[in-house]
Amino acid sequence: MLKGKKIVLGVSGGIAVYKAVELLRLYIKAGAEVHVIMTKSAQQFVTPLTFQTLSGNPVHTELFDLFQEKEIGHISLADRADLFVIAPATANLVGKVASGVADDLLTTTIMATKAPVLFVPAMNVNMWENPIYRANEERLKAFGYRFMEPVSGLLACGWEGKGKLPDPEAIFAETLTLLRPQDMEGETVLVTAGPTREELDPVRYLSNYSSGKMGYAIARVARQRGAKVILVTGPTSLCPPAGVDVCRVTSAQQMHSAVMKYVEGVSIIIKSAAVADYRPQARSQEKIKKGDVGNLVIHLEKNPDILAELGRIKGRKILVGFAAETCDLLENAERKLKEKNLDLIVANDVTEKGAGFEVDTNIVRFLFADGRQEKLPQLSKDEVAHALLDRILQVKKAEKGFQA
Ligand code: CTP
Repeated sequence: MLKGKKIVLGVSGGIAVYKAVELLRLYIKAGAEVHVIMTKSAQQFVTPLTFQTLSGNPVHTELFDLFQEKEIGHISLADRADLFVIAPATANLVGKVASGVADDLLTTTIMATKAPVLFVPAMNVNMWENPIYRANEERLKAFGYRFMEPVSGLLACGWEGKGKLPDPEAIFAETLTLLRPQDMEGETVLVTAGPTREELDPVRYLSNYSSGKMGYAIARVARQRGAKVILVTGPTSLCPPAGVDVCRVTSAQQMHSAVMKYVEGVSIIIKSAAVADYRPQARSQEKIKKGDVGNLVIHLEKNPDILAELGRIKGRKILVGFAAETCDLLENAERKLKEKNLDLIVANDVTEKGAGFEVDTNIVRFLFADGRQEKLPQLSKDEVAHALLDRILQVKKAEKGFQA
């Protein structure tokens, strides 16, 4: 994922320095070339040797080191980097950069680089909320520097609140965002994912085998490409992608309400959720008992067809549906494309090996409103997500050209 990318990992001093070690491991595993710069105080927490061993490169600590200065070390690092990630970024470091102070190797290099810079602050909650810190962060954001928010929890200083460094996995995901072409910037994408559950009684429900993996991949990749993403998700065991607004629902009716709440402000809607078409007519307040009857009859009533309703109100929004079928794939997908007034439908035969629920790959066909069809080979769900977003942007571009 990061093959050939040169990342400068700037580490300033705080208890969270140990998490930067794990972050470095993730970068190396993904194929990046990483150069670590440590401030003096960072070296109080973890020795440079740890970072040096894991990165395979000397750790840079001194502004005027004659050996490193052979090629003017700080300038050469600044020039060669594809990206700077400062994790953890202390209040002191952010304050210095915001004020134009360049008095050590890290601050000098940050000021000298034209590469994107991501600050990942970690500090005491009161420091994070202090108006001086807030103003420094806002000032840097206005200059185009990127920030991740710390997460809430019990802080090393004993306080509870916002200030913890996000998990290395979340910082890694945000890093990918900065390195991808931001071709979805300005778009707001609403993605639905996972199954719905229709409750029968307090211990039972009707549902389906959807894992949510495809929808989560779309949400993640759209975010990485610069879109604002709202993920409305049924129950899944997946971790929501970093930087995505998540709305959790259980039933089809809840999914319907959530989608209708967000629809107004979005430009693209991708309905990958496997919505239950029916729900039990009545939910028993108590666990249904076996009783004497041999057969139990459950009456079901129809759920709203969310996608069909969106098709009626979509206006200029791009609307994408999914058709997971077990037979007559193309006929069914074509019918849904037309009946639900979609711009594009993603069809897959869930019985095919390497496609469908739970697996990490998919084999899909795209059917477009203008009659075009395209079959993709077996791809990872992330690759399918990228291909889908590419096609959506093409449809948008064609529509723009048509309107002009
Ligand atoms: N969908 C929806 N609301 C429903 C049912 C389906 O929004 N109540 C959406 C799904 O999210 C998917 C598309 O419609 O994008 C197709 O779903 P699918 O279950 O394959 O089709 P159905 O419309 O239910 O048709 P059928 O029962 O004939 O398969």
